[in-house]
Amino acid sequence: MRITVIGTGYVGAVHAACMADIGHEVLGVDVDAERISALAAGRAPVHEPGLDEILARALASGRLRLSTSLAEAAATASTHFICVGTPQRPDSKAADLRYVDAVVDGLAPHLRPGSLVVGKSTVPVGTAARLAARLAVTSPGTEVAWNPEFLREGSAVEDTLRPARLVVGVVSARAEAVLRAVYAPMLRAKVPFFSTDPATAELVKVAANAFLATKISFINAMAEVCDAAGADVTVLSAVLGADPRIGPLFLQSGLGFGGSCFPKDIRAFAARAAELGAAESVRILHEIDRINLRQRQRTVDRARELLGGTFEGRRVAVLGAAFKPDSDDVRDSPALAVAEAAYRQGAEVLVHDPQALDNARAVFPELTYASDIPKVCEDADLVLHLTPWQEYRELDPAALAEVVREPVLLDARNSLDPQPWWSAGWTVRVPGRPLLSPLLSSDRGGERCM
Ligand code: UDX
Ligand code: UDX
Repeated sequence: MRITVIGTGYVGAVHAACMADIGHEVLGVDVDAERISALAAGRAPVHEPGLDEILARALASGRLRLSTSLAEAAATASTHFICVGTPQRPDSKAADLRYVDAVVDGLAPHLRPGSLVVGKSTVPVGTAARLAARLAVTSPGTEVAWNPEFLREGSAVEDTLRPARLVVGVVSARAEAVLRAVYAPMLRAKVPFFSTDPATAELVKVAANAFLATKISFINAMAEVCDAAGADVTVLSAVLGADPRIGPLFLQSGLGFGGSCFPKDIRAFAARAAELGAAESVRILHEIDRINLRQRQRTVDRARELLGGTFEGRRVAVLGAAFKPDSDDVRDSPALAVAEAAYRQGAEVLVHDPQALDNARAVFPELTYASDIPKVCEDADLVLHLTPWQEYRELDPAALAEVVREPVLLDARNSLDPQPWWSAGWTVRVPGRPLLSPLLSSDRGGERCM
């Protein structure tokens, strides 16, 4: 099939390359000419496992072409996927739809009757209907469908090629047939396929993100209670997760969620529900957001306590800048928010990340960055573990103890094994878990204690 993918950021670049990989003729379109020439030269806009390879394959096959022209898009194909961003509005918690609107307005004069515009961007419920009404005037005979994606950064290629489910929101059997044809290899592989109305498809995406965000904030709230009660959230989470009705995923306590989706999606969902008169139904989302943001503040407070009550004149080593591992994305990164707060309160902050240093530097140029872990930790009074990269789990605590000034670790992601750190002489603080201190534990026969 011939399709276009408009907006070649995280979602669009992956979708375009994967669609070419499964055999479609794809035109990727973006307003950013630099991004388009980089893609055409095989350079992906983001660090994403497997994307470079699949992009190279798509370009070599000749099935992926790139352009900056919406007129060319309309002339090339009759199925157009919209993958532009829908960030939070600068003046409210609602979603900013200006980019989606710009694409539809840009395409409209060129669309042929029979064209299908398929939204993938995460939007407030009712957007597809609004855009369809607009196109009915400017471009009669065209149709709008919604086909949300559920890809996670760090496994975006895998999530696109082997999704857990496909959802299409359509108003005609023809649109459903087109989308079934686009995803034919996935359907052959028995991926569950849900065909519904556009409003339900739009809602499915924000509801899924709201549920996952709720799970994370729930376990972080439990970590707060564990802190107050002297209990261990790691064990609590493992036991909860062993109940098949609850499940173990998205029960990792720590610094909370960030990134370009969960924070803005739950806010936009609440804002849209309020517009629809259903504010009360999603009031829980405000609490989810508050619990989430509180984890950043609590991490900063705990770090300050571990430094004896002030950041002034202290040196803090930060491990991790990306909002999650296997990604170079720093959009709304909890790690960088904590690093920046420590800096503002007077600490000298050195940041390490395996992939996200350039992006982090662009947002917070005042922090110091290095790609060498011992260098970042040199003479540090405190090491903050803020993004759970695998590489940090493989660190040698004894070797690192030699370079720091004080062997004190705050594992804000609750994902390092504290035992080897403790054995190497470190004081280890993990939110929601009893403090691990060599001094205290030797007093009590090597037991973990408060
Ligand atoms: C996607 C979106 O689908 C969003 O709704 C969802 O919540 C998260 O995933 P993402 O892929 O992260 O957004 O966006 P981003 O990486 O910012 O890329 C958007 C691309 O669209 C950029 O390359 C930008 O240049 C392009 N764009 C933007 C256009 O081509 N036209 C425009 O008018 C605006
Ligand atoms: C999310 C959704 O998972 C995906 O389906 C949707 O399409 C886009 O939004 P993403 O933002 O890439 O994907 O990452 P995800 O793995 O969901 O993690 C989001 C944030 O939650 C990260 O900051 C992560 O560190 C945090 N997280 C995740 C936790 O704090 N605890 C967990 O148990 C899981």
